[in-house]
Amino acid sequence: MSTFALRWGILGTGMIAHKFAQALQETATGRLVAVGSRGAEAAQRFAAECGAVRAHGGYAELIADAEVEAVYVATPHPSHAELAIAAARAGKHVLCEKPLTLNLADSERVVAAARAAGVTLMEAYMYRCHPQTAKLVELVRDGAIGRLGLVEAAFGFHCDFIPGHRLFANALGGGGILDVGGYPVSMARLLAGAAQGRTFADPVAVTGAARLHPEEGIDLHAAATLGFDDGVVAQVACGVSLELENVVRVHGSEGWILVREPWFAATEGGMAQIELRRRGRAPEAIAVAVDRGLYVYEAEAFAEAVRGGRREVAAMTWADTLGNMATLDRWRAAAGVVYRGARC
Ligand SMILES: NC(=O)c1ccc[n+]([C@@H]2O[C@H](COP(=O)([O-])OP(=O)(O)OC[C@H]3O[C@@H](n4cnc5c(N)ncnc54)[C@H](OP(=O)(O)O)[C@@H]3O)[C@@H](O)[C@H]2O)c1
Repeated sequence: MSTFALRWGILGTGMIAHKFAQALQETATGRLVAVGSRGAEAAQRFAAECGAVRAHGGYAELIADAEVEAVYVATPHPSHAELAIAAARAGKHVLCEKPLTLNLADSERVVAAARAAGVTLMEAYMYRCHPQTAKLVELVRDGAIGRLGLVEAAFGFHCDFIPGHRLFANALGGGGILDVGGYPVSMARLLAGAAQGRTFADPVAVTGAARLHPEEGIDLHAAATLGFDDGVVAQVACGVSLELENVVRVHGSEGWILVREPWFAATEGGMAQIELRRRGRAPEAIAVAVDRGLYVYEAEAFAEAVRGGRREVAAMTWADTLGNMATLDRWRAAAGVVYRGARC
């Protein structure tokens, strides 16, 4: 049995930091050793709840912690770039929450820092590490629905407006496109790539629209159409104040596929399910065996890359992240979303 255990430090003590810390307790390949927070008390509370050995009352202290080998960045989007760069420069591997940064230019800086430091870096699109996603890619790549034509994907939820909250504040990179729009975009790019036997494809055309918050200027909900060079079209939608039917539908010349839980891969009896309708045939339920939690798959994929000396994780490579960020930039530009403090 392997004795490899990546020593993790977590930056931030919010919702996703808790989930990831719980997941680490279930992995065979990782161990939480420290947490860093803006406040010493929050760090201590988190450390006690989640089993971290050390609590740092500052992000720089966590990054300087000699025992930490990998840093998980779980703070609001605008802080991702500088924290990821600082961690990479300190020689830490970096798993950074999505979006990697607010815009493509900043993501390029993060990737350059990881490359220069020789560390592993991944943008934490956890659904990419899940076997349900791998099965979906396989179905499309192997032509289960014939020639791919149209992908429909959405991720939207309703949250009442909270002034100053990261989901709505312009200064905190609020809005649906950056918070959840990256999921349907990355799914469309993944499947468009699979249809061409590649790991992803980037759209040649992006059009979009959004309802903006009148003061904050962030997108409350938004939609976009992506056009790929082989004629594949994707319709993507997202929202932080509009609940959507968060499914993925994939249409091909010979039928269509429905994934009812594309992002969180709900399971029943250890199985996730993909629905396949081939023209002229009875509906098929494709079962996918799932033996661990969503974030456990992610933490293990990352740790495997570190162990193997790989700088990129196959589930979300650097080029894939940069293509996704470029598409999100174009969607935001089309929708008129501008981050006032950001260089974009
Ligand atoms: N992959 C996923 O499934 C998933 C799910 C949810 C969120 N996310 C991503 O994870 C990141 C964090 O989201 P979250 O939902 O966990 O947020 P959250 O609950 O608000 O937590 C964010 C944490 O960041 C720290 N922070 C630093 N500056 C802050 C500021 N100005 N305002 C508020 N908090 C600040 C805080 O920790 P300290 O005070 O302790 O420093 C806070 O607890 C986002 O980028 C989001 O896109 C990913």
